[in-house]
Amino acid sequence: MIERITFDGPVILGAGLAGLSAALAAKTALVLSPTPLATGCSSAWAQGGMAAALSGEDSPALHAADTIAAGAGLCDPEAVALLTTEGPGAVRDLAALGAPFDRKPDNGFVLSLEAAHSKARVARVGGDGAGAAIMAAVIAAVRAAPTIEIRENARARRLLQDATGRVVGVLAEIDGTLVEIRSTAVILATGGVGGLYAVTTTPAEVRGEGLGLAALAGATIADPEFVQFHPTAIDIGRDPAPLATEALRGEGAILRNTDGRAFMADYHPAKELAPRDVVARALHAERAAGRGAFLDATQAVGDHFPQEFPAVFQACQSAGIDPRRAMIPVVPAVHYHMGGVATDLEGRTSLPGLYAAGECASTGVQGANRLASNSLLEAAVFGARAGRAAAAEAARGGEPVSLAPLPDLPDAALRTLRRAMSRDAGVIRDAAGLTRLLEQIEALEPAYGPCPTVVAARLIVEAALARQESRGGHFRSDFPATAEPVRTFVTLTSADAAVR
Ligand code: SIN
Repeated sequence: MIERITFDGPVILGAGLAGLSAALAAKTALVLSPTPLATGCSSAWAQGGMAAALSGEDSPALHAADTIAAGAGLCDPEAVALLTTEGPGAVRDLAALGAPFDRKPDNGFVLSLEAAHSKARVARVGGDGAGAAIMAAVIAAVRAAPTIEIRENARARRLLQDATGRVVGVLAEIDGTLVEIRSTAVILATGGVGGLYAVTTTPAEVRGEGLGLAALAGATIADPEFVQFHPTAIDIGRDPAPLATEALRGEGAILRNTDGRAFMADYHPAKELAPRDVVARALHAERAAGRGAFLDATQAVGDHFPQEFPAVFQACQSAGIDPRRAMIPVVPAVHYHMGGVATDLEGRTSLPGLYAAGECASTGVQGANRLASNSLLEAAVFGARAGRAAAAEAARGGEPVSLAPLPDLPDAALRTLRRAMSRDAGVIRDAAGLTRLLEQIEALEPAYGPCPTVVAARLIVEAALARQESRGGHFRSDFPATAEPVRTFVTLTSADAAVR
C-alpha cells in the first residue's frame, strides 16, 4: 500500500545549500532530506568559503575570467557572468540571514586566496567553518518559514512521470514507507557522486542518485566524466576522508614528500597554488612513486592552527597528529562533480516539470574543472533561480505511468564498485582501466536492474572512455593532449533505461 500526498508547489530532493536556497526562493516547498538537516550534505562540510568579488580591487569580470580559465574551455560564459555578477549579492543575502562571515575591523569581509584565483576573494567563516555556519543560518530561516515543509529520513525512489514524460512528482521512501508525492514541479538538489568512490571528502549518502534518477527518467546529462579530485584530503584511513582546506596552501603551507622535499616546483610554476587538477596529479605521482605526500603548515600557520583552522586541527588531533609541529599526510580524494543534469539558467532540465540545482546540476559554470569555492556560490545563486522558476509552474500533468521503486545497490556491491571507481576512473585514467570498469558495471546490471547509483557510475565511465583527450579534472594517460573543446551530452532512450 502506497500513501499519497498532493503538494501545491515544488518538491525539493536534497537539503544542502542549493535545495534550501531553492526552498526559500520558492517560498512554498516540500523538502525531502535523506538525513537530519545539516548532516549528510556536502554544503555543511565546506571549509574554504564562498568566492565572490567583494573587495575594491576585484570585480565580477575578473572572477569570471578565473572561473573560465579553471574550466579549461568548457564553461558557458553566460552562466559564468550570471554567477559572478550575482555573487556579491548572494554572500550579502546569506550574511543578512545570519551567516557570520569573518569581518575586518571596518566590517569588510575577510577574504582568503585559493588556487587559481587572481585575487583574494573567498569569504570565510571562523577560518574553516564556512559550510557549517552558512547551513546553520539557512536551516534556521527554512525552519522559520511556515510554508516550507521538511521531511527527514526521506529518499527519492523514482521520479514520477505522466504519459507525456512530464515529471509530476516523486515516489519517496519516508521513514521506511513508500509515499507517492504529486507536485507541480520537482527540484533535484541531491549533490554529487563522491560516495561512488572509495576515497572521497563528501558524505556517504551523496552517491549520484539524483543523476541516476534523472537519467533514467530521460533527462539530458552533461559532462559526467568531469570529476574533481581535491589534492589534500587527510590520509588517516577514515571514510569519508576529512579535508585539509586549500586555504592552508593559500596561507603558505607547503607540499612535501616523505624526504621533506617541496615537490610542487617540479610540476607547475604556481607550485602549491597551481590549478587543483595539477596539484592532485602531482600528489598522485609522488604517492605512486612511493615518495608519499604531506602538507606542511608548521611554518605558515604554526601555533595559530587551532584558531585559524579549527576543523582541520580537530581532524588531525583525532588521529594523533599535531599540525602545529608535524606534517599532515594527504591524499587526493573525490570532492566535486562538475558534470550533472543539464539545465538552463533557471534550473530547467530537458524534462518538463524537472529542475536541478547545485552540484547535481550542470549549469555550465564549472566547465571541466571547478574553481575553488565556487560551489557554495553556485548552490546559492542557481538554487534560488531554480526555486523561483519552479514556484511559477502551475501545470500538474497527468497520472504517473509507473509507481515501481527503482532498485538500491546493496552495501557489499557498492563497496566493490567504489574501489573499482577509485582505481579505474580516478585521477589518472586509461582505456584499459575504463574498459575493465565498464565490464564490471555491466555485470551488476542483470542483478540490480535500473539502479540509479549504477547508472550514475556508468554515465561517468562511458563518457570518460569516450573522451579521448585530457582536460581539467579528466586526465587520460593514453591521451594526455587536449583536443577541441566539446561538451558531452547524454540522454538515455527509454530502451536504454529499461535495460539499465
Ligand atoms: C577547500 O576548502 O579546499 C575546498 C574549497 C572548494 O572545494 O571549493
